[in-house]
Amino acid sequence: MQETRQDRVHICEVVARDGFQNEAVFVETADKIALIDALSETGVAKIEATAFVSPKAVPALRDAAQVMAGIRRAPGVIYSALVPNLRGALAALEAGADELNLVFSASDSHNLANVRMTSTESLRAFEGIFGLARAHGKPVAVTIATSFGCPFEGPVEARRVLDFYRRCLAMGASGMALADTTGMGNPAQVERLVDAALALSPATPLGLHFHNTRGVGLANALAAYKAGARRFDAALGGIGGCPFAPGATGNICTEDTVHMFEEMGVSTGTNLSLLVSLSRRLPGLIGHETPGQVAKAGRSCDLHPAPTR
Ligand code: COA
Ligand code: ZN
Repeated sequence: MQETRQDRVHICEVVARDGFQNEAVFVETADKIALIDALSETGVAKIEATAFVSPKAVPALRDAAQVMAGIRRAPGVIYSALVPNLRGALAALEAGADELNLVFSASDSHNLANVRMTSTESLRAFEGIFGLARAHGKPVAVTIATSFGCPFEGPVEARRVLDFYRRCLAMGASGMALADTTGMGNPAQVERLVDAALALSPATPLGLHFHNTRGVGLANALAAYKAGARRFDAALGGIGGCPFAPGATGNICTEDTVHMFEEMGVSTGTNLSLLVSLSRRLPGLIGHETPGQVAKAGRSCDLHPAPTR
């Protein structure tokens, strides 16, 4: 069945990677594992459990191997890991990741800030990773960061993003994601780019990775849905952000995203009450409030006692 014909939405929960990478406190390994194990029971399709990156660059995820090895694997859930280079790919495969999520940016400036390579240098490094993963029988997805704008360069041409998209598919990507690293996109732009990406390869699973940096995150998710996208990255509590992108703030919030789609009658396959209760425990782990709204306001069906006369 073509990706665009399915009505249900798949959630990829990224709080343990995108969420924690941007926190000042180190969330203890046991707490990360307990949270991921709890998320495994919520019905999310995929959990990006960690990132195999330099511990100097992202100290918050220095326990990647222990986290990946320590989590319980729920049947049907894919446990993926973000990987920037061959070294990270080797470590992720050794630690038992189900899927590698290779990341690079469509803009050279952000890719240099993030992984110290140009976009083309990243792609060149990916060739070896595809070979390695194939030998291990593991799928490789690719996320193209700054697809909707770069905090250093401004607009990124759709043509450039789509050219990279095509090259990743040619290398054998099992899935693709377009990321709005610092929330620069708008719904009209999202609709056009999703349309074009799905036209390039209708059967390739296409994920959208939105940040709510300018308050447009859910509007962008809805625009992507209307254009045919069915897979969304989201972080519990709406925390997250790239430490190498100035002004970055949280991902779209998992429970807010789920609430929106479910209220529209679009199934996400998740248990919203469970997500909300997990989200309410996050401030205890990271030491501050989170931007998510449904965890504070309650679901729209959680009514208040009417005033009496
Ligand atoms: N995992 C762990 N360590 C790694 C690594 C990986 N994937 N890749 C490189 N390293 C180590 C090297 O061994 C070296 O260690 P040393 O200083 O103790 O000798 C050090 O990191 C530098 O290696 P080098 O190959 O010169 O990399 P770099 O300094 O050019 O950095 C990255 C490149 C990709 C490793 C680094 O920029 C990075 O980890 N970025 C992460 C970005 C990120 O996670 N952003 C948020 C998500 S989008
Ligand atoms: Zn992100």
